[in-house]
Amino acid sequence: MLKDLVMKNRSFRGYDETRKLTEEELLEFVDLTRYTASSGNTQPLKYHIAYEKEEVDAIQALTKWAAALPQLSLPYPGQCPTGFIVICLDKSIAPNETAFLRDVGIAAQTILLAATEKGLGGCMIGNFNRAALKELLGLPENVEPNLVVAIGKPAEKVVLTEAGADGNTRYYRDETGTVHFVPKRALKDILL
Ligand SMILES: Cc1cc2nc3c(=O)[nH]c(=O)nc-3n(C[C@H](O)[C@H](O)[C@H](O)COP(=O)(O)O)c2cc1C
Repeated sequence: MLKDLVMKNRSFRGYDETRKLTEEELLEFVDLTRYTASSGNTQPLKYHIAYEKEEVDAIQALTKWAAALPQLSLPYPGQCPTGFIVICLDKSIAPNETAFLRDVGIAAQTILLAATEKGLGGCMIGNFNRAALKELLGLPENVEPNLVVAIGKPAEKVVLTEAGADGNTRYYRDETGTVHFVPKRALKDILL
């Protein structure tokens, strides 16, 4: 059921590094995005896939995780994702990047739902060093990295809770720093 996939598709920040990803797996996820909606059917998104340890480590070093939990350094050592899909905007197709940010979100969610269906999981990372990543990947001048999608086999527990009356949606962890809680607003609170 779609609801099961959506519920299971959490932002994971701890992975089983022994579960490597193959080029074929990542290509299958990217291939799916070709069939998703695109504003004006412009399709300005381009993708870089990474699954070899050296490159994955180099990308990981340019990403920032869980800014709301600065006291923790996530992912913990030995629990990094084993692959990345970097979603980029080709400015030669779409000079106005902001018009296509929704396309990026649609593509990212599609990739993550597909990963979830395969027993994998991931995390969207908008907080990364753009200039350094562009250089690392050797992207052409007209191609801008917009969103990094981490992928791997989740190795941590994420629990959804209901946001309280105070409307606080800040995620938090238990005292061991391993169980991750994510408050979600109630249906009645998102209806106008
Ligand atoms: C566009 C976007 C960018 C995000 N960037 C980051 C990020 O840079 N680092 C991070 O740890 N999480 C990032 N997240 C994950 C959110 O923190 C996460 O979606 C939120 O805490 C809710 O958790 P859930 O995805 O499990 O529902 C991002 C999410 C979205 C949608």
